[in-house]
Amino acid sequence: MEILGIDIGGSGIKGALVNAETGEMLTERFRIPTPKSKKPQAMAEVVAQIVEHFNYSGPVGCGFPSIVKNGVCLSQGNLHKSWVGVNIDELFTETTGQEFTVLNDADAAGYASMNYGVGKGKNGLVIMITIGTGLGSGAFFNGVLIPNFELGQIPYKKHKKIESWAAASAKDREDLDFKKWGKRFNKFLKLVELIVSPDLIIVGGGTSKDWDEFSHIIDIDTPVIKAELMNHAGIIGAAVACLREQHHGHLTKG
Ligand code: BGC
Repeated sequence: MEILGIDIGGSGIKGALVNAETGEMLTERFRIPTPKSKKPQAMAEVVAQIVEHFNYSGPVGCGFPSIVKNGVCLSQGNLHKSWVGVNIDELFTETTGQEFTVLNDADAAGYASMNYGVGKGKNGLVIMITIGTGLGSGAFFNGVLIPNFELGQIPYKKHKKIESWAAASAKDREDLDFKKWGKRFNKFLKLVELIVSPDLIIVGGGTSKDWDEFSHIIDIDTPVIKAELMNHAGIIGAAVACLREQHHGHLTKG
């Protein structure tokens, strides 16, 4: 089944048509920058433009960069504070006329990796980390999603959350090279390892395309691999999650 997958990020809103049975992307990715205000209405309008671009009607799967429970945004993430409490499902359904399934963006990316990527068949605790404006995390135990892990929110030094220090946005803001930023990212992974003892960590998100620039700096005991679906994983995973939800009403693997 062909489903429109949308991945909402702090800097861009991206979409593509996906074969949700095979996890294959059927079109080029279409991207529009996230509106500067990062407010609900402005972002919903961009989501509508993406739906129109594909001339799409049908169910839409959407990864969203905050805690999402039953379609409701429960944290600000790197967006405007007025998002908190908004029913994202309802807002996007009203704005586009299409039915939405919304889940956390890193959960969506992990979902793609666990079903069609390097995470396929991996048991134990697998953590997907996405590097972008924030640090996203998706947790899977024996292939089943444990939603809304927020490892990027761990406080660190003077920062309220470690993502303010170790995400790609910190690298850009402070103009850090991969060596300096890579050390920060490794520190983050060390904390993740200490706190949740994963069996495998998969690294995705926009910055995973530069994997060769920083993978040699990663030095923890847990195996760490790159998500080969890279930043397409969020789009694919959102579409796949949407299909599963239609069929089963819950987000599990297989
Ligand atoms: C949010 C997460 C999100 C991550 C990546 C963080 O700021 O708290 O929910 O997954 O950014 O977008």
